Amino acid sequence: MQVTKTVDDTRAIIKAWKKEGLTIGLVPTMGFLHEGHASLIRKCREQNERVVVSDFVNPTQFGPNEDLAAYPRDFERDSQLCESLGADLIFHPEPEDMYEDPCAYVSIEKLSNNLCGLTRPIHFRGVCTVVSKLFHIVAPDRAYFGEKDAQQLAIIRKMVKDLNFDIEIVGCPIVREEDGLAKSSRNTYLSAEERKAALCLSRSVARGKEVIRKGMKTEVLLAEMRAVIEAEPLAKIDYVSVVDALTMENVDVIDCDVLVAMAVYIGKTRLIDNFSWQLPQER
Ligand code: PAJ
Repeated sequence: MQVTKTVDDTRAIIKAWKKEGLTIGLVPTMGFLHEGHASLIRKCREQNERVVVSDFVNPTQFGPNEDLAAYPRDFERDSQLCESLGADLIFHPEPEDMYEDPCAYVSIEKLSNNLCGLTRPIHFRGVCTVVSKLFHIVAPDRAYFGEKDAQQLAIIRKMVKDLNFDIEIVGCPIVREEDGLAKSSRNTYLSAEERKAALCLSRSVARGKEVIRKGMKTEVLLAEMRAVIEAEPLAKIDYVSVVDALTMENVDVIDCDVLVAMAVYIGKTRLIDNFSWQLPQER
């Protein structure tokens, strides 16, 4: 496995692979890798002749009062995991290699305005900008994103469509801890007591799935899901919402495929979870 730090070194390797006609898969990450990331890398390994993992804590997607400095990092461990999963290249740039007094940004309107975009107004602009840069640097055939960040996945799909990136976006299911908590690099922020409290997110998701199956109204669905979280004293809801799976706009009546998504503060740590619901097919 090779490790690159600069755009030029990465491009040189990609160029040689392209010359050989090899297919390339990209897994963008911010490092501190866990089983969720590993599932993306495994899928990428299955589907491509060359696997590139980017490992970069992207400063432009963090707001001024967010956890950029505290975000966990362990590149040694990340590279060992990538090697064991059969990755061919890790691209691990420094912020200065990626951003030199930038003036160009990519933002995807409308879809970025709801859910996490409400509390994190510049977040998706930062995500779309860095992902566009990675797409230009690595020029992959396929790129892998987790359904854990469902709004991010929807936004990237829209960006690829609107800006004609010739890249297949592959969505991968949420990987959870045994007790249900969605795996996240941010789970390391939780104290033992908060870790227990954090289970209210996956419990709320489970309750939501039960309620939606029974065909209950959106108000009932949201009230039931909120009640599960509100029963946990350490939890504070940022949002629990039902949105159109494609547009990310709130829906009152579930007459399309939807995303049911939440963000919840457990102490100071903001965690997200979600599930998707497809309308039953007419016979
Ligand atoms: P990061 O949070 O490191 O996540 C990298 C990828 O792993 C994302 O596509 C995310 O959805 C996926 N992922 C994280 N936890 C997961 C889980 N429990 N199950 C399945 N997939 C999971 O998302 C980012 O980084 C950044 O925004 C990035 C796209 C790299 C741009 O900087």
